[in-house]
Amino acid sequence: MQQNDFLIIPANATHVDFAQIICDEYESSAKARGTGIAKRSPDYVKQKMLEGKSIIAFEKATGIWAGFCYIETWSHGEYVANSGLIVSPQYRKAGLAKSIKAEIFKLSRKLYPEAKIFGLTTGLAVMKINSDLGYEPVTYSELTQDDAFWAGCKSCVNYDILMSKERKNCMCTAMLYDPKDHYQPEETAEMFRENSKVYERWLRIKQTWRGILGKKNEAAGKEKKSLLMSLFLHW
Ligand SMILES: CC(C)(COP(=O)(O)OP(=O)(O)OC[C@H]1O[C@@H](n2cnc3c(N)ncnc32)[C@H](O)[C@@H]1OP(=O)(O)O)[C@@H](O)C(=O)NCCC(=O)NCCS
Repeated sequence: MQQNDFLIIPANATHVDFAQIICDEYESSAKARGTGIAKRSPDYVKQKMLEGKSIIAFEKATGIWAGFCYIETWSHGEYVANSGLIVSPQYRKAGLAKSIKAEIFKLSRKLYPEAKIFGLTTGLAVMKINSDLGYEPVTYSELTQDDAFWAGCKSCVNYDILMSKERKNCMCTAMLYDPKDHYQPEETAEMFRENSKVYERWLRIKQTWRGILGKKNEAAGKEKKSLLMSLFLHW
């Protein structure tokens, strides 16, 4: 399939019936990846559709739902997050996420031209997509410090890591586009190309250690963290 095979549009009231399918896909994709993801309720997704703050995609030929992403604002509109990017498994690797991300980025710039746009991700694909749009990797201190944003991480399996590191680091990589001070997309895309091997290795190490130490901890009982876990939490 190609990007041309999809209809990619701002979601509205006519799409609310897709909220449940989208949330089910969030959950099964998180399980399949074995990584953390913030849980979303169908009501939350519906609200994003009604507010005109989301992008939805369908296969043109069949009308089958294919993907979704939405906008959140934090720190009184100073920051915008493009969150909840999801592509239905049958339509992956066709460039659809890239197109959805480009549309939600455009919509974010239109609705909030002054806002810094950011995202948190554990995936190399999303890092690549963000880099193509002009985002650069940043430390968590450059993101919104709005407690409500970080509260969204509570349902993620990695929340204990985030809190133990005082919200300064976790399994996700933070990326940001600052409209007042940013590289050109060609530059960030080039930076990604140059560093992708390092990113890939680093993401793999984080995931592996989290997996090993998580299992070890489960076996040892939750009340006592292993020495390895303690070391990991202090990297
Ligand atoms: C991550 C996800 C959205 C990617 O969707 P997709 O439609 O398959 O992505 P695309 O086809 O647009 O790929 C975008 C780019 O990433 C690359 N890519 C895709 N999957 C990749 C992977 N697993 N590892 C590395 N690169 C990958 C593609 O090659 C493409 O690069 P290109 O522009 O050079 O061709 C999809 O796999 C998904 O829904 N996963 C589950 C939910 C999730 O992880 N969401 C992200 C939360 S931050």
